[in-house]
Amino acid sequence: MAEPFEAVRITDRVYWVGAIDWAIRDFHGYSTDRGTTYNAYLIKADRVTLVDTVKAGFMDQLMSRVRSVIDPGEIDIIVSNHAEMDHSGSLPAAIDVIRPSKVVASEMGVRALNEHFGMEGVDAVGDGETLDLGGLEATFYETRMLHWPDSMFTYLADEELLFSQDGFGMHLASTERFSDELPDRVLDWEAAKYYANILLPYSPVVKKLLARVGELGLKPRHVCPDHGPVWRGETERIVSAYARWAEQSPTNKVVIVYDTMWGSTAKMAQAVADGVASAGGSAKVIPLRASTRSDVATEVLDAGALVVGTPTLNNQVFPTLGDTLTYLKGLKPRNLIGATFGSYGWSGEGAKHAHEILREMGVEMVQGQDEIVASRYVPDDGVLRACRELGADVVGRLPA
Ligand code: FEO
Repeated sequence: MAEPFEAVRITDRVYWVGAIDWAIRDFHGYSTDRGTTYNAYLIKADRVTLVDTVKAGFMDQLMSRVRSVIDPGEIDIIVSNHAEMDHSGSLPAAIDVIRPSKVVASEMGVRALNEHFGMEGVDAVGDGETLDLGGLEATFYETRMLHWPDSMFTYLADEELLFSQDGFGMHLASTERFSDELPDRVLDWEAAKYYANILLPYSPVVKKLLARVGELGLKPRHVCPDHGPVWRGETERIVSAYARWAEQSPTNKVVIVYDTMWGSTAKMAQAVADGVASAGGSAKVIPLRASTRSDVATEVLDAGALVVGTPTLNNQVFPTLGDTLTYLKGLKPRNLIGATFGSYGWSGEGAKHAHEILREMGVEMVQGQDEIVASRYVPDDGVLRACRELGADVVGRLPA
């Protein structure tokens, strides 16, 4: 009898058997406007192998897709490339059903699976170690801190295919399984968003990994991540994007992120943006009431400057800015210059606090705390002119 969910063939011997989550909109604080997929892969070698599983709650979809190809009991080996719950949540139940002869993970993965589920009997595979799948050989590469300590890649040289767990992935629910079936603008935005929100803090590790991939001469025709589409035949495209994002070279794009109580800080943001444009820069204005912290991180990825506008509320930075700046600080963006501005009623600490947070993030501030453009209540033309000059001044310090 036909299965309700079917596997998708990637190569003669490799199938996608993951799950599509059309409904998720918040992935531990990351706004997933287009949903996501939890990708798992089946290798039909003599020793049938399952690479990763899916989030708990999606086990039925995984098993149905496996059954569309083989009886799950034929699976001999399970590889866990990454222990985070979106890929291991179904692993204990899958082991119960499949009864594989072998489950493998990196050394840190063995530990993580034990600490997550009390799981025992998982075999550690070392960096560069190979496993004979019978007619195919799998090679494991540790990718520590991309983005967890346990993370690893699995490479099938015979198939020229890389299972890259979270690396090169994106949160995108679609029935299209391959990158060349999807619009470029969707791929470019979602891949950048994934990098900015998940991998950005580990950019130095990304650089080392890309160098190592070059040294090893790995040139996969397929890159199979744990989220989103499989990169098919255009793997250089995503690899070169990662090289660019890891560098985070400054551009003349200025991200102006603000919130407002009675419209004063909003007016100031508009004037800063006009100043940016007047000096030949590109302004991206982000009103936080209508945007998410994840969108801010994505826009900052290819920016040269971050300018923050905040009212003062109860002597503090406005709460939405507090949230977003805390989030950005953890992502460790590099090579940014910055400034702050904002309105206030009687005390005016908000923009000063934001200035301090940016400074702690390593943003090179173009103004001292006593030079912050601030407006008591409603900005007059003089204040708005100062905002415009601030925008132009920031652009003047960026590459053309
Ligand atoms: Fe998709 Fe780090 O889990």
